Amino acid sequence: MGRKGFFVFLVPFLLISSTTHAESVEDAYISFGISQKGLEFAKDLLINTAISSLIPLQLPNIEQTVQIPLVGKVHMVLSDIVIYQVNIPYSIVQPGEMGVTIVASGATANLSLEWSYSYSTWLFELSDSGVASIQVDGMEIGMTLGLKNQQGTLRLSPEDCGCYVNYISIKLDGGASWLYQGIIDYFEDDIVSTVEDTITNKVTEAVIKLDSVFQSLPKEMTFGNITTLNVTITEGPIMTTTSLLIGINGLFTQIDPKVTFGHYHNNLPSTGSCNNAEKMVGISVHENVLNSASIVYFNTNKMYWIVDTLPDQKMLNTAGWRFIIPKLYKEFPNDDMSLNFTVLSPPIIKIENEGIVATAYSDVFINVVDAGEVIPVACISMEIEASGFAGISLSTVSGGISLSKLTMSLKWSKIGTLHMLLVQSVMSRLLKSIIVPVVNLRLRVGYTLPDFHGYGLQNASIIYGDSKIVVCSDVARAYEYIPNRILS
Ligand SMILES: *[C@@H]1O[C@H](CO)[C@@H](O)[C@H](O)[C@H]1NC(C)=O
Ligand SMILES: *[C@@H]1O[C@H](CO)[C@@H](O)[C@H](O)[C@H]1NC(C)=O
Ligand SMILES: *[C@@H]1O[C@H](CO)[C@@H](O)[C@H](O)[C@H]1NC(C)=O
Ligand SMILES: *[C@@H]1O[C@H](CO)[C@@H](O)[C@H](O)[C@H]1NC(C)=O
Ligand SMILES: *[C@@H]1O[C@H](CO)[C@@H](O)[C@H](O)[C@H]1NC(C)=O
Repeated sequence: MGRKGFFVFLVPFLLISSTTHAESVEDAYISFGISQKGLEFAKDLLINTAISSLIPLQLPNIEQTVQIPLVGKVHMVLSDIVIYQVNIPYSIVQPGEMGVTIVASGATANLSLEWSYSYSTWLFELSDSGVASIQVDGMEIGMTLGLKNQQGTLRLSPEDCGCYVNYISIKLDGGASWLYQGIIDYFEDDIVSTVEDTITNKVTEAVIKLDSVFQSLPKEMTFGNITTLNVTITEGPIMTTTSLLIGINGLFTQIDPKVTFGHYHNNLPSTGSCNNAEKMVGISVHENVLNSASIVYFNTNKMYWIVDTLPDQKMLNTAGWRFIIPKLYKEFPNDDMSLNFTVLSPPIIKIENEGIVATAYSDVFINVVDAGEVIPVACISMEIEASGFAGISLSTVSGGISLSKLTMSLKWSKIGTLHMLLVQSVMSRLLKSIIVPVVNLRLRVGYTLPDFHGYGLQNASIIYGDSKIVVCSDVARAYEYIPNRILS
């Protein structure tokens, strides 16, 4: 794994968090970094979402009584003013101290409206009505999205929001030419400022709505009825000129009975090194996250395996062990046997440069089944070390392990001392051929990741080291996406 190339956008975080946040006592075991490329992606998503949730946009009616040369005093009303299309050809995103600024420029919009007028002379009363279309050009829409952490939740606020319309052109269907001129002369400014005000208000409203979406997110994510993941924000948001970082607590807690885990050493999201600066996001997961999951898993699952048949379907029998443990065969000739591999404590997980290393302490009971009765005859304590790797596809994490180290010692025996070297090589073969494949079968199926409105990770690469797994990835649509769902 090439760890030389630092993930460009995470480097500033390292500097920031190790200087200004070194005192922080909060734990952030999972941290998310969003690169400029990721921010661009989020910005486009946000703009498309905003447009599709705002359009069609109804503007307030505009009424005026105006003096038209040669015609006289005319009461004119523009109603049903609707922006039905907005195009944003160019936009930028820039994180800064106050928040993330998004500017859309050169935007165009199409409006439709109904016009009507009435006026009276001393002889008769006249009125007419029709429709018109208006094209708005060169619109600039700018907004600074304030981001802050309020008691562990991300708060969004519209800090600075504005819309400026450069030019409008009006096309009337029907109507007299004086009317056209009248609308141009008397309504142009009104239309422009109505468009500007309405868009500014709507964008502000959208940010407030998005904020309430964030407020409604729970501070813990529940998996089944077994465990919750603490997603309380504990670090950031930290903004640099090209990136954004957020750290969450990230530890698993058991629901029933409630078990929370004490403080671990080593917090701070800090380092993460992706060897590909072109990725949108970097997610750093500390080994303590895996250890908290390991504790929950251990507490909620029976962690023992009974082995009584060999991979070739032959039952374990003392006859097969007569050269390994001669005394066993002598006392229980031709009896069935079973081995009970019992994991004694939650496997301890460490992340080293080569990958994930899990150490499990277990006892293996050697049982003899004599006339239906299970008789434990010896117990061996084992320290099993397995190395593992993980992979991430769009919506699942999967992995695999292999046995890397096995040490064992005799705990007690009713059949005298055992030739441990022989026993160890048999146990090692059994672990490799029976237990490891069972574990791998489950790990290969994988665990489903939560998705965000149909978006998931794509082209993820994983880097191990420094007690962390760093996932560098792009974000892509996992399934059909309905933009309105985010804001409505
Ligand atoms: C909307 O406006 C764009 C440019 O602003 C123009 O090219 C397009 O034809 C208009 N669409 C309709 C349906 O009027
Ligand atoms: C958790 O859910 C499973 C089935 O989904 C159920 O069998 C079990 O009793 C539940 N446990 C608790 C503690 O609610
Ligand atoms: C979740 O994390 C926050 C911040 O580290 C902590 O204050 C809170 O107690 C945690 N919640 C649970 C249920 O452990
Ligand atoms: C295996 O050993 C564990 C721990 O001693 C025990 O709780 C469990 O009942 C045993 N299982 C069988 C099937 O013997
Ligand atoms: C993922 O990689 C494939 C092949 O390298 C590429 O075609 C695709 O565009 C990438 N996806 C993203 C979201 O960058």
